[in-house]
Order: sequence, then C-alpha cells, then structure tokens
Amino acid sequence: MAGLGMKMHQQSIQDKQTFWQQASQAVTWFTRFNTVLDESNAPFYQWFAGGKMNSCFNAVDRHVEAGHGDRIAIEYVSPVTQNHYSITYQELLSQVSRLAGYMESIGIKKGDRVVIYMPMVPETAYAMLACARIGAIHSVVFGGFAANELATRINDAKPKLVLSASCGIEPSGVVKYKPLLDEALEQATHQVNHCVILNRPQYQAELLSERDVDWQQAVADAPLIDCVPLESTHPLYVLYTSGTTGQPKGVVRDNGGHAVAMMWSMKHIYNIDAGDVFWAASDVGWVVGHSYIVYGPLMAGATTLMYEGKPVGTPDAGAFWRIIAQYNVKSFFTAPTAIRAIKREDPNGDGLDGVDLSCLGQVFLAGERCDPDTLYWAQEKLNKPVIDHWWQTETGWPVAANLMGADPIEVKAGSPARPVPGYQVEVLDAIGEQVPANESGNVVIKLPLPPGNLTTLWNNDSRYVDSYLSMYDGYYLTGDAGYIDEDGYLYIMSRIDDIINVAGHRLSTGRFEEVLCQHDAVAEAAVIGVQDKLKGQVPLGLVVLKNGVDISDEQLYKELLALVRHEIGPVASFRLVSAVQKLPKTRSGKILRATMRKIADNSAFTVPATIEDPMTLDIVRSALTKMGYADALAKELTAS
Ligand code: COA
Ligand code: AMP
Repeated sequence: MAGLGMKMHQQSIQDKQTFWQQASQAVTWFTRFNTVLDESNAPFYQWFAGGKMNSCFNAVDRHVEAGHGDRIAIEYVSPVTQNHYSITYQELLSQVSRLAGYMESIGIKKGDRVVIYMPMVPETAYAMLACARIGAIHSVVFGGFAANELATRINDAKPKLVLSASCGIEPSGVVKYKPLLDEALEQATHQVNHCVILNRPQYQAELLSERDVDWQQAVADAPLIDCVPLESTHPLYVLYTSGTTGQPKGVVRDNGGHAVAMMWSMKHIYNIDAGDVFWAASDVGWVVGHSYIVYGPLMAGATTLMYEGKPVGTPDAGAFWRIIAQYNVKSFFTAPTAIRAIKREDPNGDGLDGVDLSCLGQVFLAGERCDPDTLYWAQEKLNKPVIDHWWQTETGWPVAANLMGADPIEVKAGSPARPVPGYQVEVLDAIGEQVPANESGNVVIKLPLPPGNLTTLWNNDSRYVDSYLSMYDGYYLTGDAGYIDEDGYLYIMSRIDDIINVAGHRLSTGRFEEVLCQHDAVAEAAVIGVQDKLKGQVPLGLVVLKNGVDISDEQLYKELLALVRHEIGPVASFRLVSAVQKLPKTRSGKILRATMRKIADNSAFTVPATIEDPMTLDIVRSALTKMGYADALAKELTAS
C-alpha cells in the first residue's frame, strides 16, 4: 500500500486545487483569493489570484497578535564577533516596522526595488521583512560577490535604495563591504539615490555624501508603520542566480504562493512547528537563506538561528554540534561541503564528545549532490536521520525530499528521496520521451509548478520561457541530469549546462570565461568544474594567449587569479589556471568542455567525431596533469 507521502503526492497532482486550498489555510489572508490556480495566462500561472496578504505580517505581526511576542524569533550567534543575542517577535516587529517607516519616509513605495548587500546579521532579516511590509521588492546580493557582480544586479533590478553594512567578518579578517558598494555604484549605469549603511564596530565606514545615511540615525526617529495588504501575485523578491551566460538570472518570487509553500514545507518536510528551533547554516544571500533562515521559520512561528561563522575554524569543528545542543535545535540544515570540512578536521567526531544532541531530530543537506561517504559519516557520527534533499533557487523550496514531518521513508544513499507533493518530476530523453527506471536523462517538472516557484525572470519573460520552458512543451527544465529508480527515488547526478557548484554555491563557467578574456594577454579561455574533495567542484581555467605575448607563467597566474577575485569575488574560489597552446574544439568552433571535464576527472570518454584536432586533447591532458588532475595514465582514449 502506498504510504502517506505517496498519497499526498498523488492528491497534489490529481487535485491541485483542493490540496493547495487546504495548505493555504496556514497563511493569514487579508482578502480571500478567488481561485487557487489561475491557468488562463499559462505558462505564466498565478497562485491564489485575487487574494491579499502580507508576508511580513505572516512572519512577524500575527505571532505578536496571537500573544507570542515574548517568543524568540531570531537567535543571533556570531562566533566571528564573539557576540550572541536573542530577538523576540515583539522586538522584531518594532525593528521591522521602524525600518519600513524610514523607507516609506524617503519615498520607497510598493513595487520599488531595494538591494540588500549585507552580512549575516539580524539587520539583514529586518531589511528583507521591512521591504515585504511595504511591498517593496528586495534583492539580496551575497557578500562574497565583488563590486562588478553587485553593479550588474543593480543595473538589472534598478533599486531606489541600497541597504548595506560597513563590513562582513570572515575567518580571514574583516571584509569591507562599503568600498565594494561605492565601487559598484560608480560602475553601475543605474543611479541609486539612497544608501543606508549599518556601521559595525569592526570597521567604521565613511559616509560619502547625502546619498549615504547611517542605519541607526535613519531609524532613530522613524515612525512605526503597519503592513500593506498586497496581491498574492505581487513580487516579494528578486534573487539573482547564475545562468549559462555571464548575465545572472533574476528569479522572481510572489508573496502568496511563497507563503503557502513555506508553511507547508516547514511542517511536512522540516518537521518544524511554532516554538521549535530551526537552524539553516547558510547565508541570506542564497535561496536557502531567504526560504529557511528568514521567511520559512518565522512564518511558522519558530525560532530561527542566524549564524555568522563557518563549520570549521570558528573556533573548531565541534562548533555546529555545541550550538545545536546549546540552542535546542530540532532540525538542522547545512551543505554537504560543511560536513566534509568538519570530517576533514575531525574525522573521528571528537567534537561530539560530551555534547548532548537529544534535541536534534534530523539533519538536512542540500545545495549540491551529497556523496554517500559524507552521508554515511554524518549518519554514523550523529546517529540521526541525515536527509539529502534537492532544490534550486528557481523552485524556492524542495523538489525532492524525505517528508520528515509527515511520512519519513527509508534513506537511500545518493538520492534525495522522492518528489515532494506538488512536483510531478519526470526524466526525459533528448526527444522528450520518458526514459525507463534507472536510466539517465534530463530531469524535468511537469507544469504548472507548485506555489512558491519562480513566476518569471525579472523584466525578462522571454528569457524565462527560453531558459526553462522551451526545450520540452509543458515541462520546466531543471538543468539537472539524473534518473528515477524502481521505487520512485530520484538521483541527481550532474548539470546539463555550464553551471558549476562550488561549496554549494552556484556559479557560471561562462562568467569565468568572460572575465579571463578581459586580460590583455588572453585570446580565449575555457573554464570547467573539476572535482574537489572539500568543495565538491572548483573552477579550472585553460587560456590561450594572444600571439607574441611575453609574460611569465607565474605572473600570468597571479594576474588571472587577482582578476577573477576582483571581478567575480572571493566566492569564486579560483585557484587553478594554466596557459595552453590550443583548446580542443569541434570543426565548427565549439569548445569541447564536456570532454575536457571527463579528462580532468579521469572518466571514460570518446573522442568526438567532430573534433578539429585530436592532438589538443593531449595538450589539455598534460596541462591538467600539471595542476593535479587527469592522471595521464588513467584512461585510454577511444575513438568514436
Ligand atoms: N562575504 C565576503 N566574503 C565571503 C563571504 C561573505 N559572505 N562568504 C565567503 N567569502 C569568502 C571567504 O572568506 C573566502 O575568501 P578567501 O579566498 O579570501 O579565503 C572565499 O569567499 C571562499 O569562501 P568559502 O566558499 O566559504 O570557502 P572557504 O574555503 O573559506 O571555506 C567551507 C570552506 C567548506 C568551510 C565553506 O565553503 C562552507 O562553509 N561551506 C558551506 C556551504 C554553504 O553553506 N553553502 C550554502 C548553500 S546551502
Ligand atoms: P542553487 O540554485 O544555488 O540552489 O543550486 C541549485 C543546483 O544545485 C541544482 O540544480 C543542482 O544542480 C544542485 N543541487 C542542489 N541540491 C542538490 C542535491 N541535494 N543533490 C544534487 N544536486 C543538488
């Protein structure tokens, strides 16, 4: 007999209206919606059209109104500043209402965009919620991105206001955000009139002109304002993510569908109810931070733990476990990379000695494929269910997961379990036929996507359709390849495009190539993701120099690393690059990146029949070997 999870899944597909109508009851609506799902403008589906609500009200006000103002909303734990404190829902309400009041006083209105470029401090959550309160659309940019990436996002989102901080704190030291913001605003063609800067004690930023306002001064006399009722379909935020070109994609999320998905997933997937403590050890700059540091746990009335630190080195590999015990964390979410980092520092799990993890129900892993070794290590050391689950910035919440709050099922290593209710996941071949069980293909989701998924790309409906909906009629292309086994478990194995995943961070190799080609000496470049024991994948670049260029290998290496760091940011983790005489290409000039990747990873491959010059594969292999990849003896080339 099918389990509860499968029955729920069946109902969610066969009777979407009833399933999501029931789920919508967990959200407080100011005005009831007319239809659960409006398909009249497909493929631009609308969830809960006609309904009015406010995401900030659902995350903050309603808990205070229900008498839970004293409950802790945010536990801020910052080993890098040796600081920690708790914020109640009542305090959160006053911080958010005041910041929203300030924003309104400078003319920020419903629909205006606000860019948030901040570290992991509670003010970042206040900023997001204050935008939501007045219907301004926030766009958070991860702090590890460089000025140029910030400028690209500012040009696309065209914000009226930027909220930022003087600095972030990394184990390597203070990262000054304000100079990066100034550089970005100088580069951007879009003019921003207001910047509010949170000055932190670790670095006091200079406020340059009338454009810059000190955060504390801004909010000091600001009025406290109420939530604005918003249409369910009004955008809550735009979050940029890497696409296959250098231009990031602005994923648009609505208010109503998102709130319903957050409430449903907190309960059924993460097993979190009001009053529980949830910790997602990610960053607000990523989708995990949006959904499961800020909106999900707060909408559920839970306590969210906001952590400004790393899995190791702040101060050691036992930090995660001690914090879980100290703060009574029930569900914990991190990336496989973090577990690998802990395992590398503390293979025997000594950091767990004397730590009472009885509060912990389960650990969730996502952001990248979870290799079975990492899963087994975590299972053995923690003695808790370790749940791999799969999703994307675009989906906003898990597509495949073990429903720990509804119907936990057997864990199979290497699989994020079965599709979650709402998602009809299929695996198709190149011509759109479903492949048999255990055979690989393109992983797709049948339209309509459930509530909470992207509704379009910011100001770019056609890119939305081209990127995701055009390959297979009636399906959303996830960009991942994988298979489904005979028990309906999904396995996500790789990307089908030029996106790489570095320590759970999604980056575009196309963007790396653009940047490398900015160097005066470089004629062309190819960047691939190669396997890395800690970060899963890291970028590796091969460049061909212009004729007659005279530069030492050492100098070129130094300059290219500095260039990528300056243009993309430290998050790129770019340390592998080398010059080669020629790149492998097809006769029509397409660089054979997939073949290069296979050589680097010592996987079997066939020499493409269309290759222009087979000798280039030896050139690449020799360069890769020097960088510690592609053991030259490992694989025989086979001709196709
Ligand atoms: N602001 C500024 N700089 C940042 C930053 C931020 N918010 N986040 C990262 N950086 C910098 C780091 O300081 C580092 O700079 P460096 O080259 O000067 O040392 C660089 O970006 C790379 O950072 P990171 O990817 O964190 O690698 P690391 O080598 O410092 O640490 C791990 C390795 C495994 C500990 C780390 O990658 C990690 O915690 N991973 C977990 C991943 C995760 O949570 N992903 C979220 C998706 S769910
Ligand atoms: P992002 O949009 O940054 O969340 O990255 C999404 C991509 O990360 C997915 O399309 C996958 O390629 C990868 N990914 C995320 N979670 C998993 C997982 N659990 N297993 C395999 N790949 C994953």
